[in-house]
Amino acid sequence: MTNIVTRKSITFINNQTPATITESSLDLDTCYKETEIVIEVYAAALNPVDLGFQKLTFAKISNSKPKGIGEDYSGVIIRKGVKVAPIWGIGDQINGLYTHFYGEQGTLSNYLILDPSQHPAIGHIVSKSTPATINEEIDVDDDDDDGNGKKKNSEFVKNAAWPVVFGTAYQSLFGQGQIWNKDSMVLVFGASTSVANCFVQIAKNQLHIGTVIGICSSKSMEQNQQVGFDYTIPYDEGEGFIANLRDLMKTPEFIGKKFDLIFDSAGTSEFYPVMDEFLKPRVENSYYVTAVGPRTPVEYTPKEILSLYSLSAPIRTYNPWRKFNYKGIFGTPNKSYMDLAARMISLGRYVPKIDSVYQFEKFEEAFDKLRSGKAKGKIVIQIKE
Ligand SMILES: NC(=O)c1ccc[n+]([C@@H]2O[C@H](COP(=O)([O-])OP(=O)(O)OC[C@H]3O[C@@H](n4cnc5c(N)ncnc54)[C@H](OP(=O)(O)O)[C@@H]3O)[C@@H](O)[C@H]2O)c1
Repeated sequence: MTNIVTRKSITFINNQTPATITESSLDLDTCYKETEIVIEVYAAALNPVDLGFQKLTFAKISNSKPKGIGEDYSGVIIRKGVKVAPIWGIGDQINGLYTHFYGEQGTLSNYLILDPSQHPAIGHIVSKSTPATINEEIDVDDDDDDGNGKKKNSEFVKNAAWPVVFGTAYQSLFGQGQIWNKDSMVLVFGASTSVANCFVQIAKNQLHIGTVIGICSSKSMEQNQQVGFDYTIPYDEGEGFIANLRDLMKTPEFIGKKFDLIFDSAGTSEFYPVMDEFLKPRVENSYYVTAVGPRTPVEYTPKEILSLYSLSAPIRTYNPWRKFNYKGIFGTPNKSYMDLAARMISLGRYVPKIDSVYQFEKFEEAFDKLRSGKAKGKIVIQIKE
């Protein structure tokens, strides 16, 4: 008996062609190598980089093959090669981050084939202690088990939502050898982003950092304080966020204090001329860390996307005369943040935030929401109903 299935994937060809659903045949018994597993994908989350990749695919210099989209996934292992480590078994419910550069397959597909040793950001879905916070009215209940030992679809949605953003936040906090305690001070630009949502939960609930201040729109201030920010400052009121930050730092609690880490998760260059005023001296291992580069927030033009990879980044990073430590984060796949997130979820210390869930066929609406730059949490596409 053959096990030929239809593989449905969301793909694009170049930046002149819209993303579309493409179909192909997949023989489940022969499609994988000895070192690979086949995952039936239940849910996959969108990330701004998915838009970025397509925008950078100029028709004149790219080939005409369909290219897969998506990096975050959750699902069930349905086949495994003989050389796959015993930790991964048929029927295991897993999630992870599948990195690819214009690969043929992305995670926005009902099947994903990968070698777990080459894609180490992979883990087993853990039992919950808290449901994900979801903005819109979506049927996600508190009970993660369907009574037969299988995760409910809501658990797959929740666990597709975090690998990329949690990993980025993790590397921003752990990657520079900084030591955290109750006296540490951290400032986050872009407090409402999904990356910052993970960041503040790790900072407060796991590392017990004393003060985490977030900069966001005035309408998001209260919500971000509920997630864990000790203070929030608006970027859209008064003379702008630098002036608003100055006002806060003049209050008795902060007089004479500076930050150990300024983390940019939205894209700004406004700190560069005033870094000394807010960031502790370099010798104290203080850092300016960016996941975005100095681009305008939530714009996705090729020039802006490339800014994190621009010439100014190595100069800021390696120039021996630099005035402050600078680090650009590039979301390297890593098992340690998958394990930390799983532990934090099971202890109720990390609750993934989901903006909205879309059916596979409605992927265009999901991309429109991502493009709006207004999502409050992750946008997830449910692939297996
Ligand atoms: N380097 C890496 O490895 C890596 C990995 C993941 C993501 N990223 C990048 O990190 C950034 C955040 O990604 P994400 O998925 O977390 O974003 P996201 O969840 O889509 O962020 C949406 C939020 O951005 C905020 N925002 C919009 N305009 C803003 C502005 N002018 N200033 C400050 N905040 C603004 C909005 O909240 P308000 O209500 O506050 O406006 C909105 O809710 C993206 O640029 C993404 O490309 C990088």
